[in-house]
Amino acid sequence: MFEEKEILPRLKEIFAGDYSGHDYFHTMRVYKTALAIAQSENCDKNVVALAALLHDVDDYKLFKTENYANARAILKDLGISDQITQQVIAAIDSVSFSKNGSKVPATIEGKIVQDADRLDAIGAMGIGRCFAFSGSFGRIMYDPENDQTPTAINHFYEKLLLLKDRLNTQKARQIATRRDAFMRQFLEEFYAEWNGER
Ligand code: ADP
Ligand code: NI
Repeated sequence: MFEEKEILPRLKEIFAGDYSGHDYFHTMRVYKTALAIAQSENCDKNVVALAALLHDVDDYKLFKTENYANARAILKDLGISDQITQQVIAAIDSVSFSKNGSKVPATIEGKIVQDADRLDAIGAMGIGRCFAFSGSFGRIMYDPENDQTPTAINHFYEKLLLLKDRLNTQKARQIATRRDAFMRQFLEEFYAEWNGER
């Protein structure tokens, strides 16, 4: 096991200055959700915890590291064994790999972290992150005149509304039900207010 106080300050430092939705608090939410899902699964909770905490520290969109250098450096400083390090890196790798190929992670630990990461992209958190991301990329909220404009609202149809059917664990599917319904309700309210109906 590891001490949270040995790793959390490192994460704060790494994510300082990110406004694209990968801030320190995203990582902390994924960590908590992953541990909650892990309660219902037969898995190595230490690997889940470390993989959740480190799942974005080498994200290709934010960092130019190779071979998970940031994650490896932190695991080394924590005195984590080679065997656990290998399992954690494999889990992180399967989570990020899935972005391109929609591949299901091979291990239960990878599946749990992927679910926790996806859950943070839906519900109230997902709505907030979507609008924050759009703003940071100079995009508008919505364009009723052209459905090809990259907007925050378009991202719901391209990704966010599809996520509840792409989860690996029962517990995550259960959490997603409420979050997905909330997003759909939000969209309905958004259009009604946009059109001056409410
Ligand atoms: P991940 O956490 O899996 O690395 P991304 O980097 O794809 O996810 O996205 C980070 C956050 O930004 C997520 O909440 C995601 O929904 C949001 N996001 C990603 N792409 C877009 C986009 N084109 N428009 C609006 N929000 C986006
Ligand atoms: Ni993430």
